[in-house]
Amino acid sequence: MISSHQLLLGKRGLIFGAVDPASLAWHVAEQCYAEGARFVLTNAPYAVRLGDIRTLAEKTGSPVIECDATSVDDLTNLLSQTMELLGGKIDFILHAVAQSPNIRRKRTYDALNYHYFQQTLDISALSLHKLLQTAKQMDAIAEWGSVVALSYLAAERPVHNYVDMGDAKALLQSIARSFGLVYGAEKHVRINTVAQSPTRTNATKNFDEFRIMQTFTNQMAPLGNADADSCAAACVMLFSDYTRFITMQNIQNDGGFAATGLSDAFMNNSKFVELRNQN
Ligand SMILES: NC(=O)c1ccc[n+]([C@@H]2O[C@H](COP(=O)([O-])OP(=O)(O)OC[C@H]3O[C@@H](n4cnc5c(N)ncnc54)[C@H](O)[C@@H]3O)[C@@H](O)[C@H]2O)c1
Repeated sequence: MISSHQLLLGKRGLIFGAVDPASLAWHVAEQCYAEGARFVLTNAPYAVRLGDIRTLAEKTGSPVIECDATSVDDLTNLLSQTMELLGGKIDFILHAVAQSPNIRRKRTYDALNYHYFQQTLDISALSLHKLLQTAKQMDAIAEWGSVVALSYLAAERPVHNYVDMGDAKALLQSIARSFGLVYGAEKHVRINTVAQSPTRTNATKNFDEFRIMQTFTNQMAPLGNADADSCAAACVMLFSDYTRFITMQNIQNDGGFAATGLSDAFMNNSKFVELRNQN
């Protein structure tokens, strides 16, 4: 974790998606705590039951409220309880929510189950719209508040074995832009996405060949893969007052991978020496 500068001192937050210490949201919560914020932690009821969120709650002195992010009733309850517990409107929200039943059941992109596909979109993308629409109706986010949703490069470019999650991330990023237009104009609320490098978490257990993917992106990115702590730092920056005019953007926190065609490190990989000699 980078050293604290109290960038979020006095701010009230709401953090979705921490299930265990590997979760990106866990790292974000720890960094927000170090930066002086107070926040509520939330996750789906099954994840609160089976995961380790209570440990994080103890460490950061945060209340935990269960919420299925696809349920408007749950979101309404979550937002009103959060404002009550923290004593005012919410300054920042992290949306780190995703799941694909198609990936879990090893479906390929050309053999999708459409019921599962709708669940993927509902959990991983529409939940952001439901959260923002509910928050706006309740006037739950403070003026100049900041919302960040975690995304991935597959929103723009198809990635091997990412199946229907690429479509979900494309929708997620589009919702961030579309809602950013409305909420920004009315309440100066900023909405951005951070597209993170492949990072080993509970969610990536369902991706076959994850290590190959991670090794490839690490070799291609000039700075190497961005780790979970750097993801947390990028989120803190976006939650802070230093980025008050950054909205409707997707920030690639990927060590430069998305901007790279072919890296020296990849070309110099010893596994390709034989091929080079064939030229
Ligand atoms: N790990 C990576 O390589 C990577 C890369 C880019 C983006 N992301 C994104 O980061 C975010 C966090 O994922 P992670 O990798 O930390 O894995 P994770 O499994 O720790 O987090 C995913 C979270 O989504 C929650 N969730 C699922 N369904 C929910 C529902 N109905 N209501 C509320 N919460 C629900 C899970 O309980 C879990 O806490 C996701 O949006 C993921 O797509 C991850």
